[in-house]
Amino acid sequence: MWIIIFFLIGTTLAEECRKRDYGNGGHVCVCTSKHCDTVAYPERVEQPEFLIYTSNKAGLRFHKSSGTFTKTDQVSDNQILINSNEKYQTMLGWGGAFTDATGINIDSLDEDAQTKLLESYFSEDGIEYSLCRVPIGGTDFSERGYSYADGHADETLGHFRLAPEDFDYKIPFIKKAQDMSKGKLQLFASAWTAPKWMKTNGEYAGFGFLKEKMFQAWADYFVKFLENYKSHGIQFWGLTTGNEPSLGIAPFSKINSVGWTPIMMSNWVRNHLGPTIRNSSFADIKIITLDDQRFFLPWFINIVFRNKAAKNYIDGIAVHWYYDTVFPASLLKQTHDNYPDKFLLATEACRGEKAGEKDVNLGSWERGESYAFDIIEDVTHWVSGWVDWNMALDLKGGPTYIKNYVDSPIIVNSTAGEFYKQPMFYSLGHFSKFVPKNSVRIGSSGFDDHVPVAAFQRPDHGTVVVILNKKDHVVPVTLVDDSKGSIQVDLSKKSITTILYW
Ligand SMILES: *[C@@H]1O[C@H](CO)[C@@H](O)[C@H](O)[C@H]1NC(C)=O
Ligand SMILES: *[C@@H]1O[C@H](CO)[C@@H](O)[C@H](O)[C@H]1NC(C)=O
Repeated sequence: MWIIIFFLIGTTLAEECRKRDYGNGGHVCVCTSKHCDTVAYPERVEQPEFLIYTSNKAGLRFHKSSGTFTKTDQVSDNQILINSNEKYQTMLGWGGAFTDATGINIDSLDEDAQTKLLESYFSEDGIEYSLCRVPIGGTDFSERGYSYADGHADETLGHFRLAPEDFDYKIPFIKKAQDMSKGKLQLFASAWTAPKWMKTNGEYAGFGFLKEKMFQAWADYFVKFLENYKSHGIQFWGLTTGNEPSLGIAPFSKINSVGWTPIMMSNWVRNHLGPTIRNSSFADIKIITLDDQRFFLPWFINIVFRNKAAKNYIDGIAVHWYYDTVFPASLLKQTHDNYPDKFLLATEACRGEKAGEKDVNLGSWERGESYAFDIIEDVTHWVSGWVDWNMALDLKGGPTYIKNYVDSPIIVNSTAGEFYKQPMFYSLGHFSKFVPKNSVRIGSSGFDDHVPVAAFQRPDHGTVVVILNKKDHVVPVTLVDDSKGSIQVDLSKKSITTILYW
């Protein structure tokens, strides 16, 4: 009897958030080796019922309730119209990056807390991340600069080998995440720098390109990486042509990089990366280019794709979110319209990177809100998925060997054996949890820029509507789906709401 009761409670109720307010306009949920909040798994409900999940500045986190559709006869000023006949892009997934910093911070917790952290991101009672980025070698969020073939120049890559960081901070956590996600987690890889001897400036960072005679060796390096990870049981869905090629053109950047002009990129993909990958045992991997800011759309891609062969090798275009407030989302749509058969994917975002901004800002609702706003803006302009930057950082926003401290959805306090789930975590979760891979974005029209909306149809024919309320007051809305009826809901002030129905 006891066992049965326990089982029922265990499957229907979520663990509660243990709130802590650091005075930054919101709160975090505190997790330890013994306790961490979870999300109640959304069981299918039948018409006319719907499920509704709310998180808000006032303190709700994935608060679940339900309601019933009414007939579509009310007229309201605040109407959201859902049109499931209008179909857009197919979604590829949601996630973050397995940087060295992510692994170092997870590793700094005891094993039970590590499990709770990974479950928060990957398990069925977590936010079910489905698409994660894995750096090929080091990034600025490592404890040192390195590549997999440091030392002397050897174009045959005879001395290529994975780093201690792969074995300590990446591979074990990636494997646990894959187990928790029951095989649903897909991965793509991105390189920051090439070995120094392959580069024109002989350094990891600064103004530097790949030496032209190293073009083939650099393509071979990608295949070696894929082979090495495969030998440890990890396979990749995609790879990018390299993180932020613009960094190698910015003379004062301290971030490890390889600079590419679009013409060089086009030639490298056409003559080296494309043929090498497609002739390898990883021929089906998605090749994704750009991996840089919106500012480069569509002109950089136009130049890369001027060469037909280069264009044919490339499956998609990756964009980062920095400066999204300066460069409009219309650039995404323009790129989609130019190349409708190439997907767009958001591959990096974080807060705290701007001068004058706090690096880590524990509990900030505003930061969570900015994630949801950008996601909705992106997906309503043809972006097929959204991948965050570091999944876990320390209280300072590192480690980062160049002191490029920033924020993360999970901040680890290793001395206390605790980690803090920030509003950004829940914000991303309002999408990642409910919009599985292969969902299709469908038509939705809202009524106000401060209440943006995105809607999706899931592979199981469920409809998901995510609504952000940026306003500091309650907003009553009528959601109308002609095929089902209408829903009356009061969006609480400063909230994110996910509505789910079949
Ligand atoms: C395989 O390599 C050869 C020789 O480099 C090249 O001509 C061919 O196009 C490559 N195949 C593919 C599918 O890229
Ligand atoms: C981190 O943990 C230590 C030890 O318990 C504590 O003194 C400190 O206040 C914590 N930091 C934060 C930001 O909560």
